[in-house]
This record gives sequence, structure tokens and C-alpha cells, in this order.
Amino acid sequence: MNKIYSASTTAPVNIATLKYWGKRDTTLNLPTNSSISVTLSQDDLRTLTTASCSKSFTEDTLWLNGSKEDITGSKRLLACFRELRELRRGVEAADSAALPMSEFKLHLVSENNFPTAAGLASSAAGLAALVRAIADLYELPQDATELSKIARQGSGSACRSLFGGYVAWEMGSSPDGSDSKAVQIAPVEHWPEMRACILVVSADKKDTSSTAGMQVTVNTSPLFAHRINNVVPQRFELMKKSILDRDFAQFAQLTMQDSNSFHAVCLDSTPPIFYMNDISRAAIRAVDEINRLAGQTVAAYTFDAGPNAVIYYLKENAQVVLGPLKAALKSQDGWASASAIKPEVPTSFESRW
Ligand code: DP6
Repeated sequence: MNKIYSASTTAPVNIATLKYWGKRDTTLNLPTNSSISVTLSQDDLRTLTTASCSKSFTEDTLWLNGSKEDITGSKRLLACFRELRELRRGVEAADSAALPMSEFKLHLVSENNFPTAAGLASSAAGLAALVRAIADLYELPQDATELSKIARQGSGSACRSLFGGYVAWEMGSSPDGSDSKAVQIAPVEHWPEMRACILVVSADKKDTSSTAGMQVTVNTSPLFAHRINNVVPQRFELMKKSILDRDFAQFAQLTMQDSNSFHAVCLDSTPPIFYMNDISRAAIRAVDEINRLAGQTVAAYTFDAGPNAVIYYLKENAQVVLGPLKAALKSQDGWASASAIKPEVPTSFESRW
């Protein structure tokens, strides 16, 4: 009888505060700039994945939220399988008693507890959980940074979801991608007052995927070169420092500037890419007003490749931020029926890795 071997794990969503937007190598998935993110609590947003393998399995398969996916053409997913099997071969070579799992087909079952592909970073949590689950199944000795290089090939932002807290994806300079990896800037305990609120403006699938959209920008936007050469490198250093110093005003200003810069290069692309809608823009105005009335920067908005807003704030300012935000957005046409303020999502993430 052929036994089935399994490992299950969860991976959290991360929301970039300094955006990854552009690839310099589409095969290895190498970015045009370094990026920074905050990992959200797994209680609210996470992917749960079980990886199994057995001599009796006849093909690699993936079930995503209950549906079987066709993965035969998914070069990036297949690259992850290939690299993980290669590492497993190392385990098998070092220990003659180790099962030849690298020869067995894989079955992956993955579930998100949030809308897939609606700009809520589903690919990040999904690919991170997939890589971590297979690595656990294979009992790989590699650390999270090493595994991040594999997750990166599945989906760029996924490399950051292998860590909790505040995470940098260092773009690296090596053509083979060996130094393009995620590292933790600080654990969640470093800044436990940080909170994130997600405004689910729309749970629909986005029109332009990140993968396609960013290459349109790379190929057509004149503003893009300015962003990656003259803006992001300094911002990367300043944002890291603001996190290490727990300087919320500075962190928030940089976060909002970078969201605006990212959406500006999207608009500057041909054809232009629009991810935000009227409700997104109302959220920006509401945050501006909240900061103006507070006389200091107490809230920061950021938007990924979709209309949903993520608002960062400190716990002590929850009332000052969430009350007026809700009130301002309720007066927007369509808001009341189409959306809701999700309960605050504390970024208290217990690092398991
Ligand atoms: C706007 O990681 O989804 O969320 O590498 O092609 O899978 P691929 O792209 P993906 O892009 C994320 C873009 C972003 C910014 C970010 O998370 O840094």
C-alpha cells in the first residue's frame, strides 16, 4: 500500500508600503526595485495549504478554494516545484533512509479566507503557503530567506509573506537572482501598536493583473524610470529607518507617497491602468482630512492593484481614525451597499518560522 505524506501550513497576507512594480527578468521574476511590506494578522487574512505526496499520485495537482486548477501552463508554479524537488534531492542524497519524495507527484489543497485576486494580495499568501507547505513536507533545512527566493519565482510579493512583522524584499543585482530575497526588518513585537484597517471597496476580480500591468508600465511609462532610479532607492532607506525608529509620521508619509507614485506610473502607462475608483479616492480625501484635523499624521492609506484601501494607524489613534473614516465614506454614493469597514486587522503576527 502506498502511503500519503502530508504537511499543512498557513501564510499571512502582506501589504506593501513601498511597492514592487516592475520586473527586470520575467523568467526569474526579478524586480526593478526593492520593496517593503507589513505582514497582517493570520486571524483575518491568510491562506491555508496542505501539501501531500505519494507514490500512487499520477500528476501534480492544485485545488484552489475548492476548484481544481489547470497548472500545466503555469511556468512560475512549476518553477517552484522544480526548485523544491531539487532541494529535496539534497536531503535524500545526505540521508539514504530518506524517502524518494522528490520522485512523487504532489497534491496541493489551498484555501483563502478572503477574496482571491481582488487586490488583497492573495497571490502573496498563496504562493508563500505553498512553498512553505512543500518545504515542511520535504523537511528542508533551508531558512525563510532561502525559501523566499523560491516563493519569489511563484509571485514576487509572496517572498515577503514568509516573514511576520516588517519585511524588505531586497532586489539584488545578481543576474541569477541568488541575492533577490526577503529579509525581516523588524518583528511585529518591535512596533506592537501598529494596526491596519482594510476597506473592502470591491471584492471583484481585478481587470488588469499585477503581472501584466507592471510590464505595461515598464515598457511604456516615461515616469517609471524616474520612480525606480531617483525615488525608490532613497525611500527604501528612509522607510526602513522610520520602522526601526518607530516614527509613525515619517512611515505614514512615505507610505502614502509611494502608493501615489505607484498609481501615478500606472496612469502614465499606455494604455493607462486604473486600479482606484471614486470610493478609493474618497478614502484618500478622508485620510487627508483626518490628518489635518489631528494636526499630525495619524493615518496612512495605501492601495495595491485594486480599489481596496489599507489604512495604517497606531492603536491609540483608533477612534480618531476609524470614526471619521467610516462617517466620511458612508456619505459616498454606493459605499453603504458595496462595502464595509472590516474590523481592524492588528498586525500582531506570531512568527512560526
Ligand atoms: C501592487 O507579486 O502579484 O501588490 O510577481 O507578477 O506575481 P507577480 O506580481 P505580484 O505584484 C504585487 C504588486 C503590488 C505591490 C507589492 O505587493 O509590492
